[in-house]
Amino acid sequence: MPRRNHFASGIAAVALLAPAVLHAQQAPAIDMTSAALRAAESVKKLTADEKVLLTHGIMPLPFLPGTVIPAGAVPGAGYVPGIPRLGVPALTETDASLGVAWIGGLRKDGATALPSGLAQAASWNPDVLYRGGAMIGSEARAKGFNVLLAGGVNLMRDPRNGRTFEYLAEDPLLSGTLVGAAIRGIQSNQIISTIKHFALNGQETGRQYADVKIAEAAARESDLLAFQIGIETGQPGSVMCAYNRVGGVQACASDWLLNKVLKGAWGYKGFVMSDWGAVPGLQAATAGLDQQSGEQLDRAVFFGDALQAQAASIPTTAARLDDMNKRVLTAIYAAGLDRNPARPGGKIDFTKNAAVAEETARQGIVLLRNVDNALPLARTAKSIAVIGGYADSGVLSGAGSSQVQGIDGPAVTRSTGGTGPFAALMAQSYHRSVPLDAIKAMAPEARVTFRDGRYIADAVEKARQADVAIVFATEWRSEGIDQPDLSLPDGQDALIAAVAAVNPHTIVVLQTGGPVLMPWLEKTAAVIEAWYPGARGGPAIASVLFGETNPGGRLPVTFPASLDQLPRPKLDGGDWIEPNFMGTAEKGKDKLPIDYDIEGSDVGYRWFARKGATPLFPFGFGLSYTTFAGSGLKLAAGNASFTVANTGKVRGDDVAQVYLVSRSGEPRQRLVGFKRVSLEPGASQNITLAIDPRLLADWKHGGWSISAGEYGFALGTDAGNLGPVVKVKMTARSWKD
Ligand code: BGC
Repeated sequence: MPRRNHFASGIAAVALLAPAVLHAQQAPAIDMTSAALRAAESVKKLTADEKVLLTHGIMPLPFLPGTVIPAGAVPGAGYVPGIPRLGVPALTETDASLGVAWIGGLRKDGATALPSGLAQAASWNPDVLYRGGAMIGSEARAKGFNVLLAGGVNLMRDPRNGRTFEYLAEDPLLSGTLVGAAIRGIQSNQIISTIKHFALNGQETGRQYADVKIAEAAARESDLLAFQIGIETGQPGSVMCAYNRVGGVQACASDWLLNKVLKGAWGYKGFVMSDWGAVPGLQAATAGLDQQSGEQLDRAVFFGDALQAQAASIPTTAARLDDMNKRVLTAIYAAGLDRNPARPGGKIDFTKNAAVAEETARQGIVLLRNVDNALPLARTAKSIAVIGGYADSGVLSGAGSSQVQGIDGPAVTRSTGGTGPFAALMAQSYHRSVPLDAIKAMAPEARVTFRDGRYIADAVEKARQADVAIVFATEWRSEGIDQPDLSLPDGQDALIAAVAAVNPHTIVVLQTGGPVLMPWLEKTAAVIEAWYPGARGGPAIASVLFGETNPGGRLPVTFPASLDQLPRPKLDGGDWIEPNFMGTAEKGKDKLPIDYDIEGSDVGYRWFARKGATPLFPFGFGLSYTTFAGSGLKLAAGNASFTVANTGKVRGDDVAQVYLVSRSGEPRQRLVGFKRVSLEPGASQNITLAIDPRLLADWKHGGWSISAGEYGFALGTDAGNLGPVVKVKMTARSWKD
C-alpha cells in the first residue's frame, strides 16, 4: 500500500507559528531586605496572643471530621488568620504548582491547568515558566488566595517517584533556574509563592518516615543547590519543609537544613512553613520552622498555646517567636499582600490563560523518535486510526494536592484512592481537551477512526486499514504512591507492539508522569512525549503531529533502559509498605532508611555518565523537524560562548546545552549552561552564557572550592551526545555561600 505520500514530503510547506521563544516582561524579584526592617517594627506591636496567630493554620477543607471553616477562609489547602488591628491580612493558601488546585471540586470553580512540571521543564525556557507562574498567580488572586504552595523543585532521584510529574528536572541548574522563574511569575501578582519540599523528598513510599542518608557535600552539590538557585532567582516568600527525615531527623525539625543552611548560610529572610502533617513537635520551632500548616493533620497544635506558654518562660523561645513573626510579616510586606489584598470574585480571562497553557504544552512536547520523517503528518492525510488513552475524551493529568481541573470538572475520572479522606485527591482524571477532535480539525479530509484499545485485535484491525496509526499511551501518577516499575500499565505495551506490527507508520503519543520503558520502540515510526499536557493538551499534541509546531522540547530527566541501571534498582520500601496518601507508618514499622550516598550528587545523567551506562533516552534529548549545529565553543572569563545554526529547512527551536565533561583528565559531567533559541532556516545565533562557579566546584570544608587543573567543556545535543572538548586551565579558588 503506498503510504509514504500521506506524509508531508516538503516540510517547508508546513506553516509554523510565530517563534516560540518569547521574552516575557518580567517583574523584578521582591525586596525582602526592606520588608524585614518594617516587619521588625511590627513585631514590637504584637501582644502575646497575637504572636501565635501567624505561626499556625488549619486546612480549611471538610476532609477531616470536626473542621470548622472560618469566615474569610477560601476553601483550599491552608488558612492562617490575620491581625486586622495592624493591617495584616489572613493567609489564604492554595496548592498551585500546575494551576489553582481543584481539591476534588469542593470549591465548585475551575482553573486553568498548566501541563505537568516535567512538561514545563521540558521547554528548558524560563520565560515559559515565568508566564505560567504569572497566569496561575493571577487566577489565584482572583479567587482570593494570597499564598501559593507552588514551586516543587525536588530533584528526580528516582524516576518511579509518584510526584515526578509535579517536579521539574534531575539537574540543579535546570530545576533551580526554572523554579525561580515560576516563582517570580507568581509573585508578580503581589502574592507569596513557596518553594518546596525542603529537602531530599525523593519518593512517596513511606514519605513521613523515609530517612535519607546523604553526605553534606553531595546534598549541597545537588538537591540543595537546586533550592539555592531557585531561592536566589525567585526570592520566594516562603519555603515548605518536607515530610521525610534527613539523617534521622524530620526535615521540618532539622536544625541543619532550616537554621544552618537555609537561614544561616543562604541568609534566607522569608518564612518556613511545614508540609501538611509534617511537624513532629514543638522542638521544630527551635530548629527553624516558622509556621505549622494544616495543623489538624499533626498530633497536636504545637505552634499555638504550647508555643506561647514556652515563650512566656524561656527567653530564647520568646526571641525565636519574635523571629517567626518577623519572617512571616517580611514575606507579607515584601510581596505586597497588605497593599493590594487578594479578594475572591476577581475576573479571570480563561481564554487568554488557556493560550498560556497551550503554548507551554507546545514548548514542552519532546519528539523522541522520527524514522524517515514519519512526522509531521500531512494535513491531507487520508485515513488515521486513533487508538487508546481516552483520546476521544481528554488528556491525562496527575493526581494529588496539585490536581487542577476546569470549571466543568474532569472529562473522565477513574477512582483509585479507595474510600479514605483523600480519595478525591487521588482520582485519575482527564482534562476536557480532546486529541481526537484536534486531529480531525487538522486533517479535515481524513477518515479518522477511534478504538479505546481495550480489545487489541479490534484496534489492530483498524490500524491495518489506516495509513497512519496513532496510539495514545498513558501512565498515571499521583502524590502519595510511587510507580512499582516503569512499564506502561493496562497492557498498553502489548497494544502498541500489536499495532506497530501491522502498521509501519505507527506513531505513539505518550502522556506519562515520568520516564517509561519502551519495549516496542524499534517497531514504531515516531514517538512523542507529551507528558501531562494540561488544559489545551489536545490541540498542542495535534499541532506537533501535523507540524504547525516544530517540537523543541528536551528531556529534563533521563529515561533509563532498565531498572537495573538505577542507583536503587528496587524502590526502598516498595515491597513492604502499603500505599497510603499521607505516608504515615503502620505501628512499629516506621524505619525506612534510604541511601542517597549511593549516587551522591551524581543524580540522573551524572549517574549514567559515572557508570558508563547508556539510557533509553538521555537527559537533554529531543528531536526536531529541522536540524541544528552548534560550533565554536570558547570558554573565557567565566563565560561559555558559541554559535548555534539552523541547518535545516524549517524554523525551529534548539536548546543549546553546555556541559562540563572532565576535570584534570577525570570524567565529570555537569550541565553548566543552557539556552533555548528560535531560529529561521539558515539563521544562526551567537550565544554567551555565564557559568555559575558552583557548578564547577566541590563542596569542601564548609564552602565551595574549585581545584586547580584543566577543565574540559563540550556542547551537547544532550547529555549523551557531546561535541569536541574544549579545555581550559583554572586556578584554585574557594569561597563561602
Ligand atoms: C503536599 C504538599 C501540599 C500540601 C497541601 C501535602 O500533602 O505534600 O505539596 O502543598 O499537602 O495541600
